[in-house]
Amino acid sequence: MTNLTNTHDMQIDKILIPENVILQRVQELGCQITNDYHGKDILLICILKGSLVFLSDLMRNIDADFTLDFIQTSSYGNKTESSGIITFHHEFTTDVNGRNVLIIDDIIDSGLTLHYLREYLLSRNPLSLRTCVLLDKPTRRKKHVEINYVGFEIPDDFVVGYGLDFNEKYRGLRYIATLKQSSAS
Ligand code: IMP
Ligand code: MG
Repeated sequence: MTNLTNTHDMQIDKILIPENVILQRVQELGCQITNDYHGKDILLICILKGSLVFLSDLMRNIDADFTLDFIQTSSYGNKTESSGIITFHHEFTTDVNGRNVLIIDDIIDSGLTLHYLREYLLSRNPLSLRTCVLLDKPTRRKKHVEINYVGFEIPDDFVVGYGLDFNEKYRGLRYIATLKQSSAS
């Protein structure tokens, strides 16, 4: 099963996590969240744009009442290394005060984005605040961040697909893949 275009084909190195493995794990995460939040109302805050595909599969595996909001940040520009400066492009609109907030992110790398966002949300008095990421690159951490749900730990490689991009490309791939060195630098 492939949905690579010719252009994509030239730059993908290898498939790190195939579609069926991602979907199985997302289902498990959904079950875990459903059990942990039993009977509680959740506010899912999705960090755009990379987490959109993950969110859409994950939320269909959460059997609980939830509302959705979105936040957009960036720290990468067109590079594969974080600039360390977090920019907000879209702010959420829901009142966080007294809510059970669950942040949904595609990947934690340096931890700078999630550290910043957690502090920002905590200052708005949520009842609880947890974080769920699909991918974790633990060896690259610059800031310690408490992560409650992790899909997969991955090595220090720049990855694309299943919502993740390089220069806005590759988001539509059904799997997670690494890029050839020349296209990721
Ligand atoms: P951090 O602030 O360094 O933890 O990076 C967080 C954000 O950087 C993630 O939410 C992604 O949007 C992006 N990012 C980090 N690593 C990768 C990667 O390997 N591929 C694509 N995007 C990434
Ligand atoms: Mg992101």
